[in-house]
Amino acid sequence: MATKRRKTAADRALAREVEKVTHVIWPGVLERYRPFLPVTSATPVVTLQEGNTPLIRSRALAEKLGPGIEVFFKCEGLNPTGSFKDRGMTVAVSKAKEAGAQAVICASTGNTSASAAAYAVQAGMKCVVLLPKGAIALGKLAQALMHGAQVLAVSGNFDDALELVREVSKTAPVTLVNSVNPHRLEGQKTAAFEVCDALGAAPDFHALPVGNAGNITANWRGYADYYRIGTIDRRPKMLGFQAAGAAPLVTGKRVDKPKTIATAIRIGNPANREGALQAVKESRGLIRAVTDKEILEAYQFMAAREGIFVEPASAASVAGVLKLAKKKFFKRGIRIVCTVTGHGLKDPERAVKMLRMPPTVPVNLAAVLKRMDL
Ligand SMILES: Cc1ncc(COP(=O)(O)O)c(C=O)c1O
Repeated sequence: MATKRRKTAADRALAREVEKVTHVIWPGVLERYRPFLPVTSATPVVTLQEGNTPLIRSRALAEKLGPGIEVFFKCEGLNPTGSFKDRGMTVAVSKAKEAGAQAVICASTGNTSASAAAYAVQAGMKCVVLLPKGAIALGKLAQALMHGAQVLAVSGNFDDALELVREVSKTAPVTLVNSVNPHRLEGQKTAAFEVCDALGAAPDFHALPVGNAGNITANWRGYADYYRIGTIDRRPKMLGFQAAGAAPLVTGKRVDKPKTIATAIRIGNPANREGALQAVKESRGLIRAVTDKEILEAYQFMAAREGIFVEPASAASVAGVLKLAKKKFFKRGIRIVCTVTGHGLKDPERAVKMLRMPPTVPVNLAAVLKRMDL
């Protein structure tokens, strides 16, 4: 039997406060930024309510950089499939569905496949994924398989797989959803909108890891849109960071056998090369390489000092900012946004490999107290 509730004035005031913030469901980037995206009322919205990711103020990195420098992390690992790819995938898969596609295909270093597979489920489509054999993090492979994608491991690298899916999409009834699909970049530009919406302005610098170079291109496009309509009155300098063993945009030469522990950015021939170079040139930014050692140090630093667990490739932006800071690149009074692109749980093997396994203790209070290191 229902009991009668006795509400005090304070309870009623509290309920009114709750009312203000509930019933507000974030609709995903396609609805939130609809006027900026290539969609119409005829476009079906395929969404997992991606976007609205936290912009977390840095304590430890900011402290390292010195007084007068603010740093924020745009935590894209908090998207529904754990990476920034979801922003682009909602638009690409919605447009594919609008065009009547029954299936999508991608080549992937892991995150694109996880995202494409999940959005294909939402859209009721098939998803085919080509991965470089043995070169993607286990968590990402698990995602694609769990979402029911047909996964084929190519005995080559990402660049080989991308070439293959480009060919396949020309001959088979399947839509390519890699970042060579322009709808992907349109969706991904919404990350820059969110940064400006949160800060009330553009940052002075925006640092990103760079692989196939779609995301830096897309973020720059987002700033360009807001600048054109007057929402921001200046744009940031774009800072792109590639892994030293896979840095074609730094050396100016295609890398036939890219090498890095950061599998997500192990790419030797970026499809969005021109977009990235234009972003850097127009913004008067730069593209630099960071070594695997620097990436792994930043990876550990993010987890241990900021409480943010990112995947190794994501830490390239942090490693790059640290490297530039050592050369006194940043002046006082500036604001830096670092995109951290994917969640650390996608690549647990890397973390576990770097650390000591926990000791075993008996079920005994004294033994636990003895081993505790407080
Ligand atoms: C975690 C992560 N970071 C960075 C990148 C690089 O992004 P882009 O290929 O758009 O340069 C990727 C691409 O797969 C990624 O998965």
